Amino acid sequence: MRFSLLGVLVVACGAGVRAATAKISVNTKALILATDDSGKAAIGTLNGYGIPYDSIVMSDSGYTLPALTNSDGSCKYGVIVAFRQLYNSNSKGSWVSFLGSDQWQKIYDYQVACGVRLIHLGAVPNQWDFACSLVSSNDATESNSLYSTNHQFFLDTDVAKAEFPTANLKNPKNARFASTWHTPGWCDDTLLQYAWGMTSQNAFLYNEPLKLTSPASGTLASVSQPALGVINRYSSGREQMAFFTTFAQWAEASIYMNHIWINWAFRGIIPGRRQVLLGLQVDDLLLPTAVYAANYTYRITVDDVVNHAKWQIDLNKRLTSSNPGSEVFLEFGFNGNGAFIYDQTVLGLSKNGTCPISVTYTGPQPVTSLEYAKPPGTGSDLWPANQTYNWPDNCIFYDPIAKMFSQNNTGGDNVNGVSDLFGLVSHTFTHEGENPITYADSKREITYNQQFQSKSFFDKAKRFSPNGVIPPAITGLHNADAIKAWMEAGINYVVGDNTRAPLRNQQNDRWPLISTAADNGYPGLVIIPRWANRIYYNADGVASDVQEWLDVSPSQATNSMTNLLSIERATTAQYLLSLYHDPFMFHQANLRVWQDPGVSVNGVSGPWSLIQMWTESILDEFVQYVNWPIQGLKHDDMGRDFVDRMNRDLYSGFSVAWTTSSDGTTITGFTVDCSNSSWSGEIPVMVPGDVASLSNARVTQYGSDPATLWVSKFPTSFQLKSPIQMHGTKINITSAAISLTTALPSLTLPTTSLVGSFPVSDIISAKSTSAASASLSSVASAKSSSASASATTSAAAKSVSSSSTAKLTSSSTSSGRSSSSSTSSASGTSSGSSARTSSGSSTSSLRASSTTSSATASSTASGDSDASRFLNSLCADSTTAASVGNLCTLWNAFKQTGKIQKRLVLPEGMPQYDWDNEGGHPEAIPRWRKRDGHQAHGRHIKRHQ
Ligand SMILES: *[C@@H]1O[C@H](CO)[C@@H](O)[C@H](O)[C@H]1NC(C)=O
Ligand SMILES: *[C@@H]1O[C@H](CO)[C@@H](O)[C@H](O)[C@H]1NC(C)=O
Ligand SMILES: *[C@@H]1O[C@H](CO)[C@@H](O)[C@H](O)[C@H]1NC(C)=O
Ligand SMILES: *[C@@H]1O[C@H](CO)[C@@H](O)[C@H](O)[C@H]1NC(C)=O
Ligand SMILES: *[C@@H]1O[C@H](CO)[C@@H](O)[C@H](O)[C@H]1NC(C)=O
Repeated sequence: MRFSLLGVLVVACGAGVRAATAKISVNTKALILATDDSGKAAIGTLNGYGIPYDSIVMSDSGYTLPALTNSDGSCKYGVIVAFRQLYNSNSKGSWVSFLGSDQWQKIYDYQVACGVRLIHLGAVPNQWDFACSLVSSNDATESNSLYSTNHQFFLDTDVAKAEFPTANLKNPKNARFASTWHTPGWCDDTLLQYAWGMTSQNAFLYNEPLKLTSPASGTLASVSQPALGVINRYSSGREQMAFFTTFAQWAEASIYMNHIWINWAFRGIIPGRRQVLLGLQVDDLLLPTAVYAANYTYRITVDDVVNHAKWQIDLNKRLTSSNPGSEVFLEFGFNGNGAFIYDQTVLGLSKNGTCPISVTYTGPQPVTSLEYAKPPGTGSDLWPANQTYNWPDNCIFYDPIAKMFSQNNTGGDNVNGVSDLFGLVSHTFTHEGENPITYADSKREITYNQQFQSKSFFDKAKRFSPNGVIPPAITGLHNADAIKAWMEAGINYVVGDNTRAPLRNQQNDRWPLISTAADNGYPGLVIIPRWANRIYYNADGVASDVQEWLDVSPSQATNSMTNLLSIERATTAQYLLSLYHDPFMFHQANLRVWQDPGVSVNGVSGPWSLIQMWTESILDEFVQYVNWPIQGLKHDDMGRDFVDRMNRDLYSGFSVAWTTSSDGTTITGFTVDCSNSSWSGEIPVMVPGDVASLSNARVTQYGSDPATLWVSKFPTSFQLKSPIQMHGTKINITSAAISLTTALPSLTLPTTSLVGSFPVSDIISAKSTSAASASLSSVASAKSSSASASATTSAAAKSVSSSSTAKLTSSSTSSGRSSSSSTSSASGTSSGSSARTSSGSSTSSLRASSTTSSATASSTASGDSDASRFLNSLCADSTTAASVGNLCTLWNAFKQTGKIQKRLVLPEGMPQYDWDNEGGHPEAIPRWRKRDGHQAHGRHIKRHQ
């Protein structure tokens, strides 16, 4: 008889265990269990919501769990998440679950007593644990293709609606795995007989259909609905959800799936908030920009502004229909002196004395290193000593762009004003670099722009940010004199640059960085993280942007705007789905509209500007996954939002506990409390439906998303108008099966080209060079060392030891970054670089795709990567080897021949997103920036050099 070690996990649950029959209280904190750093893949998304969690990393078998209940009988955790069924190679070299059967039983008993759901991530299908059998082939290349091809995946919308409605997910039109290892299963009621005590299996997530030419014994030749996710229910009342794929923090697929289990496990009562913010910040408004690889400067025209106004209105119309409640907007960082430069140079209004000349530096700007810290009081003024704000107001309005931004639209379709559409925030008056700046110049840079914003009526714009500034070229953030001048002028919020670690909060990447005297020279300034991207500051169209990509990033770049946008699509959708709120950086030259830009975006050939191409691309990618609203927040409101989030994590000690009916069968409500009795802020809680009384809370709700309560008094208990059944029931999947085949024509296996508009093949070809692999490795290892450095700074990380050692990081104070206290963060890097070389052809036919995949020799065979160890131990034991189909045949063949080119190892814990060898931060290599200085002010620099 075939016997699986994995099957041993099924112990006698049900026997002697009784479901709750009394009122219970369950704290909605997550418990993450893993045997390595794979937990990061779940923690990233929890941190996006702000959900508290504990994370246990077991280092050996025989681990004893901490108590799961409090002394008063209340339940400590609202969900338990286990990676890879906690299998790993233990200190004796055996491939075992690090939890023994008694400890698994403890979890099962806790589930039954508290009504808490168990989530298996990275599980492999087997009939004993899931009533699903692994889809597997006897043919090595076929199986390899089966597990590693970038297959499409689908949600069963009927099951989704019944089981996790608050996730509010779409069935994605073309979502694919991106080099995560997935092992689809065939889930069927006939397999229930093997799963002791299990009463139902209910798949909710599917792989595209699979046809095998050489099915392993027990595998169907044709599986029309291979399952990637299944819900199991037991006669004891226990419920679990399993995903048959590995999870990675950098994978869109994993993040999408995280939202499924989070909403299912918490039944929609989520201690946190799910809001997607898209900040589109355009720096250098009113200044001209010297265009890259060209001999001209560009400054946006009235036509460009009108085009973007109309586009934004149209975009929001489309967004409102695909994702109700959405509203995004461009936000401009303006430099008032630019209007006077325009008067002087273009209109000649200084020659006959109509407008005084623009501010003209008395010498060249000193060049400094990126993180230069100027000793306070040093440096020379660049502004003329006798400079005054001497421009008549008319001189503002001679500039047609300043005029457009100074008034609301009264011209109907002939847009004549954009003050009621776009955001505006100061970018300082002349854009003088503030690393070496003196206090006097910094003061004038900020206060002159304040005079300008008042005289130009920019400060009357609908989305003006009086308390914020975008530092010029993100300088001055270690300059005490600069920061002091800003803060004296009422500036509390600035943006940083995520490519620079010193400007990002190293304890939690969802928190802002608050300046300190030690690091920044002056304390208390809020630095909001901001993403760079591959739309470069001095690019005005496809030609300059692609040329700059090729020059800055030769290992990654191709001569294709479509490829560039594909990388941006994936990178950005990942950030948005992970609920990062950091805005994105753009510049005025990116708004140049080209009637024939030379590239089609989502099937439309133009006209487009670079920022339009980017925004349309990333939104097309994002909206396929979710119905959630996507919104803009103006600069200083975003700063307040970041600060509020950090403060509640750090100081409130909040908890949200659901309470049940007296017989324990329904969740009737929940209580929000804070351990810090002097906490006076708000705590957000997402709710699945109406609550009876709204005292002590305000409500936000957008589009079709669930409402969020913002609770302001503690403790407060809320009663749900419709109590939630503790236990669900199997959804009749008949109709789902029909919708799966009829509503999704793209389920048909593509043979020659990819369906939908996401050209994955382009990305793959862009990356399949050995140079790309090499540069990826170095970036990845640099990253991982900074991650571990940050982990040591985490004050909250603490160790507990029981029968075996483990790390327990407690989350409400230290999530995200700090929890990446990884043991082997560099492992998996080499495999990561080879992974991208997979499926050079876009076909998904198993046969064809494996024969056409021929890439450079893979480097996956690095002996001691986590995944290699996993597979070596798995395959060393004949019983476990037998339980995973021909996985081991494949692995052994690979080790001998090195011929299988696709990802053969599990990417869990892979530290680096491998489409992204610049870490998503292309300007991390600011070669051009350094050499050219900020060309926007070339006029002044040239004059004095
Ligand atoms: C700028 O480039 C264009 C096209 O290459 C060329 O015709 C023109 O002469 C150049 N102008 C200057 C001022 O160099
Ligand atoms: C100054 O010169 C500009 C451009 O030549 C002209 O448009 C403007 O009317 C003149 N202003 C005065 C006051 O002469
Ligand atoms: C400042 O002084 C310089 C030199 O005396 C003079 O050329 C310039 O016009 C003055 N600027 C202002 C704004 O008064
Ligand atoms: C634009 O309209 C709003 C009201 O809708 C008003 O408050 C604001 O002052 C107007 N802006 C300008 C520049 O007139
Ligand atoms: C469930 O499916 C069966 C067919 O398998 C069908 O006869 C029955 O009506 C369905 N029940 C519901 C509630 O949809």
